[in-house]
Amino acid sequence: MKKTIYKASNVNINKAVDILNESGVIAFPTETVYGLGGDASCESSIKKIYIIKNRPLHNPLIIHVASLEEAKMIGKLNNTAMKMAKAFWPGPLTLLVEKKRNNGITPAATSNLDSIAIRVPSNPIILKILNTFGKPIAAPSANLSGTVSATNASHVFDDFGDDIEMILDGDKCAHGIESTIVDVRSENIQILREGAITKDQIFKITKLQLDAYDGHKILSPGQLKKHYSPKARVRINVKRPNADEYFITFGEKNNNNHINTINLSSTGDMHKFAHRLYACLRDLDSMNIKKIAISPIPHQGIGRAINDRIKRASK
Ligand code: TXA
Ligand code: MG
Repeated sequence: MKKTIYKASNVNINKAVDILNESGVIAFPTETVYGLGGDASCESSIKKIYIIKNRPLHNPLIIHVASLEEAKMIGKLNNTAMKMAKAFWPGPLTLLVEKKRNNGITPAATSNLDSIAIRVPSNPIILKILNTFGKPIAAPSANLSGTVSATNASHVFDDFGDDIEMILDGDKCAHGIESTIVDVRSENIQILREGAITKDQIFKITKLQLDAYDGHKILSPGQLKKHYSPKARVRINVKRPNADEYFITFGEKNNNNHINTINLSSTGDMHKFAHRLYACLRDLDSMNIKKIAISPIPHQGIGRAINDRIKRASK
């Protein structure tokens, strides 16, 4: 019995806020992936998140707030940050900015760094939780560290069972891939993690050339080479899958008459592909499938984020 999954009714959202007020940890949908959240000002709540997720303490959490005004209370938003926040919040963009002193966020949530990653989500359930709670919520993705993010409530339950007091069920996540993280602390803005907002969308707003992240410094541990990994072995850029592989593809012509083919978007819509990918990888794991092959993904738009994740999944 999945007794920790609750419908996201007003009554249950209020219960979730009670849990947060008692230093507990809850899971909730966002428009990207499910989050595992706790009171960002409370050290014991944050410690629980790290333990439940088996996450290394040096990997800081994203701080979720209800509005730009709240974001300004915890981080220093320069002109570029303001421009981007106004264009993309609420939404799947995380801004890495300088932390404000005495901002009330426990240093444990940001791994004692001087920077802070902030996002205002657009999913109505997490927004309602944030507004009712009235304080920032620190939340990593709701999956065991290093594995594929959860895009529905059952995935969260599969990873954590009853370790979390409450999982609010908000159906599937709209994007199904994590937020884009951009370091906007200097003029040389850098995408630290490709995600639901594309590089082209950001360029249109900022007109600033985005520096490619060179991967030398592990600034954002989501950039670890192996991450987002299912149990199965994953091969990428595959045109001809082997007989024993499940083949994940898109479009009309990519089937190759391969028997175990999963077409994530027959029209070739890569947003749909991204939206379904994590659930597909998790489903194949639950079927105990050992080998997965994935078609070449065009490296543009959301395809850049997909390529980033499947490359790490294949390590
Ligand atoms: O879409 C998302 O961003 C989801 C939802 C729940 O909001 N959250 C998410 O969190 O993906 P997580 O913890 O799985 O990934 C956050 C990434 C990590 O790679 C972390 O290292 C990086 O953000 N990060 C957070 N704070 C940082 C900081 N101060 N400096 C550098 N990287 C930071
Ligand atoms: Mg994660």
